[in-house]
Amino acid sequence: MKHLISIDDLDQEEIEGLLDRAESFAEVSKRDIKKVPALRGRTVVTLFYEASTRTSSSFELAAKRLSADVVSVKSSGSSVEKGESLKDTVETLSAYDPAAIVIRHPQAGAADMLTNWVDAAVVNAGDGMRQHPSQALLDLLALRQRIGSVEGRKIWIVGDVLHSRVARSNIQAFSKMGAEVTVAGPPTLIPRRIEESGCEVRYSLDEIEEADVVYSLRMQRERMKESFVPSIREYARLFQINSRRLTPRQLVMHPGPVNRGVEIGGDVIDSDRCLIADQVASGLAMRMAILFELLAHGDHRESAEAPVPIGEPA
Ligand code: NCD
Repeated sequence: MKHLISIDDLDQEEIEGLLDRAESFAEVSKRDIKKVPALRGRTVVTLFYEASTRTSSSFELAAKRLSADVVSVKSSGSSVEKGESLKDTVETLSAYDPAAIVIRHPQAGAADMLTNWVDAAVVNAGDGMRQHPSQALLDLLALRQRIGSVEGRKIWIVGDVLHSRVARSNIQAFSKMGAEVTVAGPPTLIPRRIEESGCEVRYSLDEIEEADVVYSLRMQRERMKESFVPSIREYARLFQINSRRLTPRQLVMHPGPVNRGVEIGGDVIDSDRCLIADQVASGLAMRMAILFELLAHGDHRESAEAPVPIGEPA
């Protein structure tokens, strides 16, 4: 694995490998000293051109826990605001000789473009509405830790699928690992021909009882240039994931940030069936695994010191 741009880059075996690796890092996170020396002396740049809390903080912390030096750039407050192009910004940051660049950008394909400009490993932390591979991988980890393999499980992805890179990555990742994926939402928020990516489509929640896992998506109003639903209230009436709609065995996930009371009810968020906190914890372990695989194991290894066993404290 040289870069991580899309779930398409990974086969089932590589995904299993990342999940195993992440589980060993989850164990490191339970120790008093949560740091290992695997990436000592190497630099990781995070470059966020869109808002982020979870993804940016967890990539940053993941790199620090692996003992890398971290430079974090956000478009607001940086020279991006002064009109600097992506290419010039990246060239500037390349002067630090980073081993990896983690990028989030509103334009689909931005991370791919970076791979042509830099020697560093590139990690796509979200490109427009296209892909968010680390999210899909961390979701698989959260599920593995709660219910084991997703093979044969029915997973419903509900809500604003149209504007969601998470949905696109997760449909691929869940089905690659053997789950049966259904997407559900109002017709205006379901992309045409989405079933070609290997999922079923429903325009109501009438049959949601069949789902083992319900994956709720945020209404991504920042990406909506027109009105896609009659009103938020009407949307919530038909598609909100709340405990009235669910049977006790069903689990609920959400990538965050949530709009409490819109796509998901507060009663669900605060219940044991909800995996949101597990997802955040898995995010840190999975992002450590991704950086480790790319930098200590992958094609970029020639410039690394001999990799240090991950179990030894820094
Ligand atoms: C998601 C994103 O940015 O695509 N959030 C995240 O990374 N945790 C989903 C969203 O913003 O709704």
